[in-house]
Amino acid sequence: MTTSAELAAAPSAPAGETNQHYDLDPEIFGLFLDPLRKYSSGLYRRPGLTLAEAQVAKLHFVADRLRLAPGQRLLDVGCGWGSLILFMAREYRAEVTGVSPAGRQHEFIAARAAQLGLTDLVSTRVGKFADVELPARSFDAVTMLGSIVHMPDVDAAVRRARSMLRRGGHFYVSESCFRNAAAREEFDRRAGTEFVRNSIFGWGDMRPLSELVRAVEDAGFSVTSVDDLTDDYRRTIDDWLERVAAGAAAIDELRPGTSAELTRYLEVANAGWGFTTKHYALVCRNAR
Ligand SMILES: C[S@@+](CC[C@H](N)C(=O)[O-])C[C@H]1O[C@@H](n2cnc3c(N)ncnc32)[C@H](O)[C@@H]1O
Repeated sequence: MTTSAELAAAPSAPAGETNQHYDLDPEIFGLFLDPLRKYSSGLYRRPGLTLAEAQVAKLHFVADRLRLAPGQRLLDVGCGWGSLILFMAREYRAEVTGVSPAGRQHEFIAARAAQLGLTDLVSTRVGKFADVELPARSFDAVTMLGSIVHMPDVDAAVRRARSMLRRGGHFYVSESCFRNAAAREEFDRRAGTEFVRNSIFGWGDMRPLSELVRAVEDAGFSVTSVDDLTDDYRRTIDDWLERVAAGAAAIDELRPGTSAELTRYLEVANAGWGFTTKHYALVCRNAR
C-alpha cells in the first residue's frame, strides 16, 4: 500500500496536466457515481439494470475477458478510486496494483482496502504510468479503463503495458474513440471537445479505434476481441446525469459551480455517441 510519505513525495500534476479533475474531493464523485465509484462505462446487457448493477456486470465482464483466476497478478493503470482493483481482490482473490497520478485517489483506496480487509492483496503507486517503477514481465493482466486517453504517447504506453506482462498475459483497454479519422479531424477542435479537454481534464487525446489497434499490433500483441460498448456508455452517462441533478446542492456545497460543469461535460459526451464518438473494449494477448 502506498505510504503517506510516498504521497507527500509524489509530484503534484502541473496545471493543465489532466489530474485537476481526478484530484477533486472524492466525495463529489461519491455523489453521482455508483457505490464503487467506477468512473467508466457500465454494462447494461440485461433489462432493468441499475447503475450499480451495470458497473458490477462490467467488472465481471473485464475479469472474464482477462480469464482472471485466483492468485493472479493484475495491474490497473489509471485506477481511479479503486473500483476495479478492490473488486478483483475481493471477488477473484487477485493480487492487484493500481497506478494513478492523483494523490487523493490513493488515500481513498488505502482507506477502502483497510475497511474491506484487503490490504494484503491491494497496493498502489502514485504517478504517471510512464514514470512509476514497476516489475517487468510480472503481471498476468494489465487493464486501462478510460486512462489511455490521458497518455500523450499511445505507442509507448502500450509497449510498456506489454513489457509488464508475462507470456500469455492479457491486456484490456476500454476507451472512448472518435468514430473515424474524419470525425476526429472535424470535431477535435470544436468548442464542446475543447471544453471537456481543457476545462474538465486539463489534457486528453481521443483517437479512433484504428489507432489503438495499430498501437497494440505494433507493440507485438495479438488482438483477441473488440466489443462495442457505445450504448452502454450512453446509458451510464444518462444515469450519472440523473444523479448529478439529484445531488446538485450537495455537490455544489463541496465545490461551488461543479454540478453545472459536470452536467455540461456529460451532456457534451452523450451528444456524439454513434455519430462522432464510439466506446470500445479492446482485448489482446501477449502471445509470444
Ligand atoms: C476516467 S478515470 C477512470 C478510472 C478507473 N479506471 C475507473 O474505471 O473508474 C481515468 C484515470 O486515469 C488516471 N490517469 C490519468 N493520466 C494517467 C497517466 N498518465 N498514468 C496513469 N493514470 C493516469 C486518472 O488519475 C484517473 O484515475
